[in-house]
Amino acid sequence: MKKIKIGSVGLGRLGLQHAENIATRVMNVELTALCDLNKNLLNETADRLGVEHRCNSFEEMIALEELDAICIVSPSGLHTAQISAALAAGKHVFSEKPLGVTVEECKEAEKAVESHPDKVFMLGFMRRFDPSYMYAHQKVASGEIGKPILFRSYSQDPEKFIDGAIAFAGHSGGQFLDMAVHDIDLARWFLNSEPESVTAMGGCYAHPEFGEFKDGDNVSCLMKFKNDAMVFLFAGRTAPHGYNVETEIIGTKGILRIASVPQKNLVEILDHSGVRKECSENFLERFESSYVNELQEFVDCILEERKPSVTVYDGTRVSEIAYKCKESFESGTQLRF
Ligand code: NAI
Repeated sequence: MKKIKIGSVGLGRLGLQHAENIATRVMNVELTALCDLNKNLLNETADRLGVEHRCNSFEEMIALEELDAICIVSPSGLHTAQISAALAAGKHVFSEKPLGVTVEECKEAEKAVESHPDKVFMLGFMRRFDPSYMYAHQKVASGEIGKPILFRSYSQDPEKFIDGAIAFAGHSGGQFLDMAVHDIDLARWFLNSEPESVTAMGGCYAHPEFGEFKDGDNVSCLMKFKNDAMVFLFAGRTAPHGYNVETEIIGTKGILRIASVPQKNLVEILDHSGVRKECSENFLERFESSYVNELQEFVDCILEERKPSVTVYDGTRVSEIAYKCKESFESGTQLRF
């Protein structure tokens, strides 16, 4: 079978993982080029993964004719321009979330995708490719838990990474755009519906630094969806125990919980502290297989000439909702969509 040749931009926390996955774990694909401003990192990674082309600029990489597709894992503020440029250069595009850092940018990305209907575009909402979320989604979609009443989802980063979160706070877009986007995406996906109203709240409970950016270290929101379901989302940066992503869907005939007690693996430790289970340390560990699965889906879509289920419009809609949450958080009022 033909191998899809991919060039990947950004070799940071997630970019290195995507590069390694493309080089070693995703099938029918070849990691042909890498791009990063950090030359040492670029050379070291290209040597380690046996990558042919190393590019110091994005323009240089998308000009490589042999590339079929581009994987964008650069800082969020670059996504929209790089999506448009890569599509214009005739490449299929996988981009990390968020689609853009403003709704206007998302609309630009929509136009770029619409202008290249022959190209595959996919956004990295990786939770949809996690085996447990996929399993739960099938059950909800088949009506197994009846009519959804409440959707509750938490994203908590470990307190030990707080310095990085504070350093990133000025250009993250805030907790709703940076963290809760995944929960917003899940809510729309599971409920197959859109929000009608939102009330957001939160604060700086441990780290006043977030206040400089009109943000909190822990935030939440309550939404009413058009299908009548209640949606409660929580995003926090101060989890004492590790990386905690959990979701609960309460229906008229059953309840589903996904990782309500987060766990690293099936090992239980019995020691001087009692009986305990360890927790995943970070998103790379918790969603290890999802990152592989989503890129496999992108490559399969190119090879099978079909479009992914996660669309550019999902990216815009989720950003619009996240901004409405932020507006409600800042104004302290209930807002309608
Ligand atoms: P990072 O800050 O760790 O790494 C960014 C990399 O991009 C750095 O190596 C930097 O040198 C490089 N870079 C910066 N400007 C560049 C340019 N003009 N050309 C080429 N390279 C450039 O960032 P991180 O945490 O890896 O995040 C990257 C993106 O992935 C963000 O948009 C973030 O929102 C998203 N992300 C998604 C996650 C998910 O679970 N889906 C998890 C973490 C991040």
